[in-house]
Amino acid sequence: MRYKKLSPFPPHFLWSGSTSAYQVEGAWNDDGKGPSVIDVGNHTKPGIADFTVCVDHYHRMEDDVALFAEMGLTAYRFSIAWTRIIPDGDGEINQAGIDFYHRLIDALIAHHIEPIVTMYHFDLPAALDAKGGWENRATVAAFERYARILFSEYGNKVKYWLTINEQNMMILVGEAIGTVKPGSPKSALYQANHHMMLAQAKAMILCHEMLLNAKIGPAPNIGLVYPATSKPEDVLAADDVNSIRNWFYVDAAARGIYNSVAWRYLEEIGAVPSIEDGDMDILAAARPDFIAFNYYTSLTVAEPLPEGQPIPGSSDQQLFAGEENVFLGKNNPYLPRTDFGWEMDPVGFRNTFRALWDRYHLPLLVTENGLGAYDSLEADGAVHDPYRINYLRDHIEQIQLALTDGVEVLGYSPWSAIDLISTHQGISKRYGFIFVNRGEEDLRDLARYKKDSFFWYQKVIHTNGADLS
Ligand code: BG6
Repeated sequence: MRYKKLSPFPPHFLWSGSTSAYQVEGAWNDDGKGPSVIDVGNHTKPGIADFTVCVDHYHRMEDDVALFAEMGLTAYRFSIAWTRIIPDGDGEINQAGIDFYHRLIDALIAHHIEPIVTMYHFDLPAALDAKGGWENRATVAAFERYARILFSEYGNKVKYWLTINEQNMMILVGEAIGTVKPGSPKSALYQANHHMMLAQAKAMILCHEMLLNAKIGPAPNIGLVYPATSKPEDVLAADDVNSIRNWFYVDAAARGIYNSVAWRYLEEIGAVPSIEDGDMDILAAARPDFIAFNYYTSLTVAEPLPEGQPIPGSSDQQLFAGEENVFLGKNNPYLPRTDFGWEMDPVGFRNTFRALWDRYHLPLLVTENGLGAYDSLEADGAVHDPYRINYLRDHIEQIQLALTDGVEVLGYSPWSAIDLISTHQGISKRYGFIFVNRGEEDLRDLARYKKDSFFWYQKVIHTNGADLS
């Protein structure tokens, strides 16, 4: 529908920016921090920045928060590294780690920036992984204990909590992200998935028991799946992939049930998890206050190739090549692509808002959306990134259209508040409003520079979304 008049952004809309601990902090083994699966898995890739130093946010946190405040952020979404709080995941508590996040949260609050905390963003403690990781049911109890520590430490300062970042991507493309060992069988992945669902449900229940005013929700990556044509078989494939990629995760979090199409898929591939008595009651008892979601693009699919015919492969996080008997991934001819080959679909953002709202009727919080691009620092310290401004503007316009559609949107947290290390494509794939002077392996001086997008977003926030020019 085209509207003659658009609804304005609500007065307390959260204009935010996102990061995650392992991609921004560095200090990977400072002050008692234990190693995570990311630290263990990625230290050895030549030519691509590792996660040891990142952009050294751990040591420059106060200055970075001051820059976020100057940009005008009214919220900041970051993750807590489980391995700073409990270095081995389920043992001793590390006071230095607890203190760091107190300092960060206090600095945000001092600048009137609302903290939005992700409890777990890809960086499972390596010690838990060595004991079976999420496949091991004991990790559910470890996460619940970790959640209890976070709520009791920070619960009087933090209102918005996110349980698990992109659980669906960890299950579907975990190898590319580095959270899953190559060749992990699907049965193991979906057992891990069930345990993560339980852990998330327990954390949501605990949050509501312990913190009366807090709000908590899941943070999957949700992008609507389109059929490549109006051929009914393509429409069916899109419906299947929507269930397997998107609704499976949100249905479990928001309705406490396993999506029936996704469940049939698990039966077909021999990956039905074992579920103990009472597990489904726990999922049913947990209710999120909102749904947070990360959106980068939509996905387009066609009916699957005939059985036995090989699927052309892709390992990239956003590019789902296809799956035998389920679907074949297609390029969408209507969508331009980023430097890194990701399709850009702002209208798909609105489509995704509408689908989520129709299905769940819960407030929506965008916890990631952004453009990974090569930026260059000019001699005068400027970074001209009109391509990023265009991308963000196009998406913010669609938020306003979604608001006009009647969708309740709490806020927008683009990826990323500051440059950081991509999941598997280093520092060259930059997302931030703030440029950090480092190369893949050359750390240079790690100085911060405000990009053109910094000043643009500052104006957007200042006008509460009224001026996107
Ligand atoms: C999301 C993740 O998948 O996308 C982030 O939550 C990630 O951690 C972001 O960095 C962008 O992906 P990438 O692969 O370009 O870093």
